Amino acid sequence: MLSREDNELLCRVGPGTPMGQVFRRFWNPVLLEEELPGPDGAPVRLRVLGENLIAFRDTSGRIGLIDEGCLHRRVSLALGRVEQGGIRCLYHGWKFDVDGKVLETPNAADTRIRDRLRTRAYKTRVEAGMVWAYMGPPENEPSFPNWRFMQLPTENLKVVRLDAAASYMQVLEGGADSSHVGILHTNFARPGWMDGDFEANSDEDNPAALATNDLAPDLLLEDTQFGFHYAAVRKIIDEGDPRKNIRIVPIAMPSTRIIPSPAMQFVVFEIPIDDENTRTFSVGFRTDGQPLVEDRYDELRGRDNRELVDPTTWTYLGNWDNGFGQKREAMTRDWSGIRGVVMEDLAMALSPGPILDRSEEHLVAADAAIVRARRQLLESARGLQAGRDPIGVGADLSGVIACDDTVAADAVWQSLAPGHHARRPS
Ligand code: FES
Ligand SMILES: [Fe+2]
Repeated sequence: MLSREDNELLCRVGPGTPMGQVFRRFWNPVLLEEELPGPDGAPVRLRVLGENLIAFRDTSGRIGLIDEGCLHRRVSLALGRVEQGGIRCLYHGWKFDVDGKVLETPNAADTRIRDRLRTRAYKTRVEAGMVWAYMGPPENEPSFPNWRFMQLPTENLKVVRLDAAASYMQVLEGGADSSHVGILHTNFARPGWMDGDFEANSDEDNPAALATNDLAPDLLLEDTQFGFHYAAVRKIIDEGDPRKNIRIVPIAMPSTRIIPSPAMQFVVFEIPIDDENTRTFSVGFRTDGQPLVEDRYDELRGRDNRELVDPTTWTYLGNWDNGFGQKREAMTRDWSGIRGVVMEDLAMALSPGPILDRSEEHLVAADAAIVRARRQLLESARGLQAGRDPIGVGADLSGVIACDDTVAADAVWQSLAPGHHARRPS
């Protein structure tokens, strides 16, 4: 459980908030590259960390990410003209470049105003099919993240996004929670459950396919340079099999995790749109780096579930009006009655409302990773107020992996992720 005060500290991410400042010290993905039209194309409206912004490409293709409200009288620049090296407000013609510089002010005779004013503009970079932004103080800009997937050809990656109406923390906590995998995702994790049988799901691409039906994994945690990682250790229930199944999930501050399946890695970023909405980016790729064999990504996750996902805006539509798409009549043979792994996850994340009251929980040992994620984020928020860098800023991410492996009983779990470097308390 968490005090109401800490819960507020954890979930409020707007400008000036301590957690908002933590997020602003990292490069974060904000948009899919394919969502942004070419040079002088239509601007895209987006909201990140409680700020209303527009993204556009100028005549030479440079990307601008600037305040949506015009500096003059705050009307939306999303209606503006993108032309000749900048974006021009439709109302009185003020024009801005991608760096936020005021280029023209046709209705102001005193041209010195152009030098005095500057609109809010953030640095961007395109990498791995996503537009990334740094929204923090320029003097604190960290090195650009060096995730392993950035070394792979973009066509070997499956990069998607989905917006949902809940705090980033609610969505992230689902990802830091190993014990729900074998229960919420029973349809995939424990096929045959309704007959009391267990037969391991051999689908190597599905992160909810578990090698075992041990529902109470032991959780081992360790702080690392990038945040922390944990191993969920499950017993193999087959008699006489001395091995154990280990799933290692790294949690990179502030809100990224990697979910493994035996053959795949899914790097998932939870980016706050604002306090009560989250944009999730997921990068799926084969652990061996080879091209994706068969694209079953949308089907496994339920992203093709049109009742719950709007494919034009990639918004999750589940709510109490549509019962999160749950089909009660199907629940004799379908555990959740909800189609798709991510659809199950989001129903859980949104069901308590957009900001969960964590003061009324009753946590158990299986929740240790959730507790650690909260603790690190709160430590970062408090530390930053005291002048310390947030945990994980500028960390080397090149060797960060997730794994799902069945290994000898005496195997040391950290040896499965040799690129993760332990961080000792300072
Ligand atoms: S409001 Fe944009 S130029 Fe006047
Ligand atoms: Fe899940």
